[in-house]
Amino acid sequence: MNSFRTKKSAPNNSVCVLGLGYVGLTLAVTLYECGKRVYGVDINRTVVDGINNLQPHFYEKGLRPLLEKQQREGFECFDTIPRDDLITTYIIAVGTPVLNYTPVFRDLENSARHIGAVLKRGDLVILRSTVPVGTTRDFVIPILEKCSGLTAGPDFSVAFAPERTVEGDALQELRTLPQVIAGIDKRSATLTQALFEHFAPQSIMLDFLEEAEMVKLLNNTFRDFNFAFANEFARACDVFNLDTNKIVHAANEAYTRDKIPVPSPGVGGYCLSKDPYILQYSARQRGYEMKLPAVGRSVNEAMPEYVYGQIMKFLNTHHKETAVKHVAILGFAFKGKPPTSDMRFSPTLDVLKFLKGNPNIHIHGHDFVVADDVIAKHGAKPIADGKAIFKDKHAIVIMTNHPEYKNLEIEHVREMAKPALIFDTWSMLPKEEIVNIKGLHYSNLGYDTI
Ligand SMILES: NC(=O)c1ccc[n+]([C@@H]2O[C@H](COP(=O)([O-])OP(=O)(O)OC[C@H]3O[C@@H](n4cnc5c(N)ncnc54)[C@H](O)[C@@H]3O)[C@@H](O)[C@H]2O)c1
Repeated sequence: MNSFRTKKSAPNNSVCVLGLGYVGLTLAVTLYECGKRVYGVDINRTVVDGINNLQPHFYEKGLRPLLEKQQREGFECFDTIPRDDLITTYIIAVGTPVLNYTPVFRDLENSARHIGAVLKRGDLVILRSTVPVGTTRDFVIPILEKCSGLTAGPDFSVAFAPERTVEGDALQELRTLPQVIAGIDKRSATLTQALFEHFAPQSIMLDFLEEAEMVKLLNNTFRDFNFAFANEFARACDVFNLDTNKIVHAANEAYTRDKIPVPSPGVGGYCLSKDPYILQYSARQRGYEMKLPAVGRSVNEAMPEYVYGQIMKFLNTHHKETAVKHVAILGFAFKGKPPTSDMRFSPTLDVLKFLKGNPNIHIHGHDFVVADDVIAKHGAKPIADGKAIFKDKHAIVIMTNHPEYKNLEIEHVREMAKPALIFDTWSMLPKEEIVNIKGLHYSNLGYDTI
């Protein structure tokens, strides 16, 4: 990591990053590592204190040791924009949530106001958050102009450059993914490119802000829809009791066309759960009603209820009279690979909601990254790795593809309270071995022995 810091902080070249979540903080430390003087700003004092005390509010591979080193070197975060005329670049990385299928602009508006109040001639503002098409030009720039009394273009520069890293591997991907950049004018684009090329291998320069905004929405909506296709296919396999995972692998094997994803118990996370709606909202503003983004979402959003249905099918068939049914949910984060602690819109939360409606189900919970106290807060009794995962459980459900679940010692399945179900939604465990153990039922998405 040390070698990546290429030059000493240039005092006339400070960057202020607004919003220190997954996107802002990883970008701030990466810029700092490139020798930039960086101010991290977040209006949430708890977030700022956590970072300054080396306790960032989320897990990201490599982040903590990097922060530790950088804080010794002087990196610090604040809850307001520091008064410093040396700040010449502002990067907005605040959240853009969706409520009732409509984007919420509150944080974006406030951050633009805060920047507008201190903006100077010659400064650069880069929007990094995911936004509806047209937001940089029609929403952010007018606020910046109004609050600063300056004019975008002649007086200050503006660019949109979406964040496309994957949570859990963001620090690595910032250095390997191309940056997509569009400016309000040539100078804005060139300044942004010069900044990002300190760490990114390549810049993809687009002509219009709206093109860059669209790239981000395209990437995420396409990804979500692909997963939806695999998930709906799994539902079709279920009516034939066919192993979806096996079929997808057979279809992909040495077949040089588009790779089909394996199914999952739902598609969560902060981005894929909302960005298809942001794309649909964007087109709707111009009078076109897209169908596929919402169709994909509805398939993915229905998966947790389907998972719950499978659990209940087993319990109702084999444990109708059992007074307390012990169910272990493995994987609380919204995904397992790359590992993250992020539980925003995790499909597990929906499965838990359904399970909690059954007073005679006792829920146990496990995650390799999410802390036990967080698991307990969500109404599950935390369980340790190894034997405890299986011991006395009537059903275990693997909800994420955390690679470590592949290494569960399968001998321990014998400790389950038989008849017992192993619901392996990611097909991580040796199915053939499990189905041969008396009293054990196996289910993945599509196939089951219930
Ligand atoms: N999470 C991801 O991996 C990812 C990837 C690509 C793009 N994005 C997009 O990037 C944006 C940020 O996502 P995130 O996951 O980092 O969000 P986040 O919720 O983790 O972080 C946003 C932070 O902004 C802070 N904030 C709100 N208003 C502020 C203001 N006026 N000034 C300073 N800070 C303010 C909040 O307190 C919060 O800590 C979103 O638009 C998201 O869709 C996220």
